[in-house]
Amino acid sequence: MTSAVGYAATQIALRYGARVIATTGTTHADALRGLGAEVTGYGEGIAERVRELAGGPVALAFDAAPVSNSLPEIVRTVANPEDALTMSDFATAQELGVRFQSGEEGHEYHHHVLGEYGRMAADGHFSIPLAGTYPLEQWREAAELSMSGKPGRKLALQVR
Ligand SMILES: NC(=O)c1ccc[n+]([C@@H]2O[C@H](COP(=O)([O-])OP(=O)(O)OC[C@H]3O[C@@H](n4cnc5c(N)ncnc54)[C@H](OP(=O)(O)O)[C@@H]3O)[C@@H](O)[C@H]2O)c1
Repeated sequence: MTSAVGYAATQIALRYGARVIATTGTTHADALRGLGAEVTGYGEGIAERVRELAGGPVALAFDAAPVSNSLPEIVRTVANPEDALTMSDFATAQELGVRFQSGEEGHEYHHHVLGEYGRMAADGHFSIPLAGTYPLEQWREAAELSMSGKPGRKLALQVR
């Protein structure tokens, strides 16, 4: 389910040899296909489209979309609710028995891989879609835009 975080997750899953079906809009569709994912649109009928592509339920579903009432559909792509994980729709997750990653204390993090993915990004083997790059001196402007809550505001600060 492809926002910026989903875009990153797609690359990680492909790197580990998984077959990836990404449900996404037009913004990232071509880039995701280029990476090797199969792509279908989000919105009504997600479960049917994904199951048809997969030939049945998928092994794991990762909901990285902004909250959009799509979690009940996403759950229908897997055999059991605990095979789905959301990082945005925590209220529905608790109703449906879906796992969730809220970013709060007590959740497992794998910070030790950040260096590895940073090196891969420097070598051109990993990327995040960026809305813009700012010189370090303009950090305040970048922070305000990043915190504005508008979608797709992934920015990089350039340290000279
Ligand atoms: N739990 C945590 O630790 C954690 C950490 C980071 C973010 N989050 C949450 O995760 C969610 C995503 O964050 P983000 O920063 O990655 O978002 P983002 O990149 O700003 O999301 C915007 C993108 O999501 C796509 N999108 C919108 N609705 C969708 C849907 N129903 N299915 C699939 N794609 C959809 C849009 O595609 P189109 O433009 O093509 O329409 C758009 O490109 C947010 O709710 C955020 O709060 C949680």
